[in-house]
This record gives sequence, C-alpha cells and structure tokens, in this order.
Amino acid sequence: MKLLASMEQIMRNKQVIFNGFIEGAPKVTDMEIKMSNIELKVPKGSGAFLVKNLYLSCDPYMRGRMRDNIASYLPPFVPGQPIQGFGVSKVVDSENPNLKPGDLVSGMTGWEEYSLIQTPLQLRKIQQNDIPLSYFVGLLGMPGFTAYVGFYEVCSPKKGDYIFVSAASGAVGQLVGQLAKLHGCYVVGSAGSSQKVDLLKNKLGFDEAFNYKEEPDLDAALRRYFPEGIDIYFDNVGGPMLDAALLNMRIHGRIAICGMVALHSYSDPQGLHNVFSLVPKRITMRGFLQSDFLHLYPQFLEHVIRNYEQHKIVYIEDMNEGLESAPAAFAGLFSGKNIGKQVVCVARE
Ligand SMILES: NC(=O)c1ccc[n+]([C@@H]2O[C@H](COP(=O)([O-])OP(=O)(O)OC[C@H]3O[C@@H](n4cnc5c(N)ncnc54)[C@H](OP(=O)(O)O)[C@@H]3O)[C@@H](O)[C@H]2O)c1
Repeated sequence: MKLLASMEQIMRNKQVIFNGFIEGAPKVTDMEIKMSNIELKVPKGSGAFLVKNLYLSCDPYMRGRMRDNIASYLPPFVPGQPIQGFGVSKVVDSENPNLKPGDLVSGMTGWEEYSLIQTPLQLRKIQQNDIPLSYFVGLLGMPGFTAYVGFYEVCSPKKGDYIFVSAASGAVGQLVGQLAKLHGCYVVGSAGSSQKVDLLKNKLGFDEAFNYKEEPDLDAALRRYFPEGIDIYFDNVGGPMLDAALLNMRIHGRIAICGMVALHSYSDPQGLHNVFSLVPKRITMRGFLQSDFLHLYPQFLEHVIRNYEQHKIVYIEDMNEGLESAPAAFAGLFSGKNIGKQVVCVARE
C-alpha cells in the first residue's frame, strides 16, 4: 500500500539538457530535450522545495555559463544536466518553512517541467496582482531590476541628459529608455531591425531610434543622432558600438557597462580602440551586476508597478510556447530574433 502511494507521485519530467561547453554563439544543437522521472515529494527534513515550472527566462548571461570558466560570478552549467535559469514556478511540495504548496515564486530553477530546489537563488514569493505572471522574469524580474539599478545607481542621470541605449528593444533596454524618458532625458536607442526601430519610436516612447545593421559607420550615426554628444551610454552590447560611443561622449559622460552580448558570439573577443577618450573627456565607465543591489528590489518593484499601473511604462514580451521551443528561443537572442523580453511558457498553471 505504502509502495503504491509513492509510485503515484512519480511523474515524467521533460528537460532541456546542456550537451557540453561551446565556442561562439549558442546553437539549438548545444541543448537536447530528454525525458526523466521525478518524485513529486520532497525528502523529509531536507529544507528543499519542489516546483512546477510555468515560465522560463532566456537571458544572454546564460551563454557565459556554457563555457568552462570557474572564475565567473556564476558556475558553468554541468554537461548532461538541465540548463539553469530564472523562472516563475508554482510550489508543489515543500520542506522549506517559508513556502507551501500553491505558492508562486520567481528565482533560479531548472529548464524542465518540475524542479527540486535545494539552494534557492534570488528566490522571491510572488504576490499576485493584475500584472502577468511572466513579467516576474522580465519587467519585474532580473532584467527590469538591471535596468532600474543600472540607470539610477550607475548612470547618475540628470533631467535633460542625452542618453543612448543599445539593444534598446530588449528585456533591459526597453525599460532603461522608458525610465530615462520619465526622468526627463532625451533618449535614442539602437536595435537590429526596422520592426524594432518602429517599436522604440512608436510604442516605447524613445525620441529617436536607428537600425545599427544599416549603418556602415557607427561613429557617423551617433554624431547624427547626438550632434551635441552623449551624456550617458547604457551599453548592452560592447564591441564596435561601445568604441563608437566612446568617441561621441560629452565631458563628464557616464558609460554603464551592463553587458556585451555582441562579444558572446566570439571565442576571441575584439579589443577597443577609443579608450583614450576617457581621459580628456573625464568619462566614468563602470561595469555592474544587478545582484550587487538586491537591497533596492522593494523600491524598484514599487516604482515600476506604480508607473506600469498608471500606463507610463509598457513592456514587450516575446513568448515561445512549450519547453521544446526553449533551445531555439535562447539561441535566437544572439541573432536578435527576439522582439522584446524572451520568455518560454512551459505551463500556464
Ligand atoms: N549586468 C547585469 O547585471 C546584467 C543583467 C541582465 C542583463 N545584462 C546584459 O544586458 C544585455 C541585454 O540583455 P537582455 O536580457 O535585455 O537581452 P535582449 O536585449 O532581450 O536580447 C539580446 C539582444 O541583443 C542583441 N544582439 C544580439 N547579438 C548582437 C550583436 N552581435 N551585436 C549587437 N547586438 C546584438 C539583439 O538585439 P538587436 O536585434 O537589437 O541586435 C538581441 O535581441 C546583455 O548584454 C546582458 O548580458 C546584464
């Protein structure tokens, strides 16, 4: 009888397995869909909890975990094991005193239907409101928080500043631009297609936007959009765009180095040529990690939810359906296939 009861708790668990360390941009074949079994019961006294994953987040930083680099701020993925990433999940069983079945959480989870979580990372309980659940890995999750702390804490923005944002229609960039507009700044974004440029200008409220893939000379493009120079460059891409921005900064300009998605495609990254601009223009260039600012999460949530509810902020999502679509959704980040925040829906409840 006892054996039968525990047998009933065993479920098939579809997973996205990491095949092994890679060079260059991620490909669909770097991951594989596999079936395994999972018991929907947490071992007694373990302190762990078991979740059903609803929404999974595709983020460029995950490329960094696909190489064997133990010096990174996050450990590499384990070949043969499921990919790890941020997700929104529902608690199925729990030995964690703060969680009970039915609770909704966001945090680090596995790319699989069900995950047993022993060591929670950036775990947050979700208070459900009218905001879509998937936004807890986007607007209200890690990318939104990155935009908030990157803009307010790293860029030292002032009303009237001229701001340039690259990868501007993406998960982070679209919120940076909108926060900058709310702050009274002049905002220009770059993106990789005319559809994205149209969204930036007509849906996200940027003052100007351009398709960098159609600009043979990025320095000339930035001079055209910023004849008086750039006060703040929010850099999501690195590479040639950062080099061109360095030439176009104003005196006492600030560059927030958020990420270098352009470099993820290379195993041997190119160098910068215009770093000398830092000296005569007294530019501050600062890298940052959102995880250093977690104490600001409550004030971020309050600020962004208030502005969203007042229709002063919008958010564009790109939702793929089904766990099987996750490898293509992730690989697509590195060719700009995503339009807005890339999310994978595993289950709706
Ligand atoms: N520092 C932190 O704590 C932190 C936290 C989160 C994210 N980040 C960084 O923030 C950046 C944006 O992340 P996200 O989640 O908002 O991603 P995203 O913008 O939603 O998606 C990535 C976008 O990057 C652009 N891209 C891809 N390959 C490129 C290339 N070779 N050159 C130029 N652009 C390229 C594409 O847009 P286009 O079509 O416009 O080219 C693509 O849609 C990333 O660098 C990420 O690593 C940093």
